[in-house]
Amino acid sequence: MDNRAIGVFDSGLGGLTAVRRLREALPGEDVVYLGDTGRVPYGGRSRETIMQYAREDFAFLMGFDIKAIVVACGTVSTVALPEMAEDYSLPVVGVVEPAAKKAAELTKNGRIGLIATRASVSSGSYEREIARIAPDKQVFSQACPLFVPLVENGRVSPGDVVIETVAREYLAPLREKDIDTLILGCTHYPIIRDVIADIMGPGVALIDTGGEAAAELAAILRARDALSAGTREGTCRCFVTDSVEGFNESAGRFLGGGVINETQRVSLN
Ligand code: DGL
Repeated sequence: MDNRAIGVFDSGLGGLTAVRRLREALPGEDVVYLGDTGRVPYGGRSRETIMQYAREDFAFLMGFDIKAIVVACGTVSTVALPEMAEDYSLPVVGVVEPAAKKAAELTKNGRIGLIATRASVSSGSYEREIARIAPDKQVFSQACPLFVPLVENGRVSPGDVVIETVAREYLAPLREKDIDTLILGCTHYPIIRDVIADIMGPGVALIDTGGEAAAELAAILRARDALSAGTREGTCRCFVTDSVEGFNESAGRFLGGGVINETQRVSLN
């Protein structure tokens, strides 16, 4: 048994979709969440900048007495994690391996789509991972740089002409590739899942990367006998690098009704 909290971070609010799934799987676990809301989005920045931000995110969470870290940011998971995970002695789970594994399991025709930030797509991380675990499958990638700002600004509902127009344009090339599985390679995208599902149609399975990472961490903690006693509902403490009010206003949409116990503004550098 291990009653220490789980650290989770993202560039912004999107990682709360992973927290939501983590709390569904492990309701008794305490969570410390860092959202670097002052610097979101990371996905259009250079590799050097993303590495620097990722180091600061890790360093912040390592200041807490935590037992594991979920990198609930597709951009950090694809760009920085391959070089950084071994620097830490605690379990660190990113989104790439669990989501790639799920995609390889689900696809029937071997044609997998990936939508993600520009940095994630250019990293080639999903192509490498899927080639490693399922070399017979093909990956078709599409960067969707406008999705994160639209999601952070609440333009998320089916019928919203802005998100619908942008999504149709981004997804058109993937519709032509006859994919049957689509990795939502950024943790903001589950918020526009309905918009994406409508465009891709019922024959395409959508994979929530933060959810897969949460399930992977739950399995690791179980195997290590490192779950909390679970005698009370877990708490969720949030730390953000921009306005607390702005974060609290939008957080409910990402958390799906889960409670946030406190939010504090912090500086990372
Ligand atoms: N949630 C982040 C991700 O999964 C948002 C992307 C960004 O900051 O650009 O990649």
